Amino acid sequence: MQVAIDGPASAGKSTVAKIIAKNMGYIYLDTGAMYRACTLVAKQNHLAYDDQSGILKALNNNIISFKNINDDQRVYINDKDVSFDIRTPEITANVSQVSALSEIRKKMVEIQRKIAGENNIIMDGRDIGTTVLPNADVKIFLIASVASRAKRRYLDFKEKGINQNLTDIEKDIADRDYKDMHRQISPLRKAEDAYQVDTTDMSIDQVVNKLTQIIKKNKKNK
Ligand code: CDP
Ligand code: CDP
Repeated sequence: MQVAIDGPASAGKSTVAKIIAKNMGYIYLDTGAMYRACTLVAKQNHLAYDDQSGILKALNNNIISFKNINDDQRVYINDKDVSFDIRTPEITANVSQVSALSEIRKKMVEIQRKIAGENNIIMDGRDIGTTVLPNADVKIFLIASVASRAKRRYLDFKEKGINQNLTDIEKDIADRDYKDMHRQISPLRKAEDAYQVDTTDMSIDQVVNKLTQIIKKNKKNK
């Protein structure tokens, strides 16, 4: 079973995907974390965020890996846990530039398809239903207003003790949405056969229930 969840920043993709994966016994893969890790590799190696050949070379010398610990996906670069470091404002502000590089995407998509080929999987990102898994059994496109997504991210940070200005978060989200939707390769867009769910006024539980219904219905129809 392959479930693809796409949508803009902070639509709730990873939160609900993680819960559904646990409930259904599927593997969860956060593909955004992969592009964030590539961005961190660029930073650690003092490379410009558009230096494709430099970043590719650095990726050959720095191994990115994942481990699922206590229902959470941890990210490692050379065995160092970087799960926190990949979510800083600097990485967040530059990830869309790195993720627009064609050869970096090629490399990530190859890894994503390999993992999907070996497991029942729920994968979330921007291009899963359109490019990574065009034949996924179920495709979901999650959306929500920019204001509600920024507020969610703001509360999420606050809970973790990180103080970030709501206006800055809103600006980052709008900027990234624009870049992700307008890049040449695999831009963020709804696959024609994806179910679109607007989560603006929905709680996490409501989204989980709605998506679970959609997945179960499609599973029965197989
Ligand atoms: O969690 P958040 O919504 O902030 O973003 P993310 O899922 O961690 O993704 C970070 C960035 O990676 C996105 O803004 C995209 O630029 C890129 N990305 C992508 O290009 N393709 C994917 N399949 C997933 C993420
Ligand atoms: O993965 P993505 O960037 O799409 O979003 P996320 O990181 O799963 O969700 C961003 C924040 O919104 C998290 O703090 C979630 O708990 C929260 N959220 C929410 O308040 N209501 C929802 N329906 C979905 C997510």
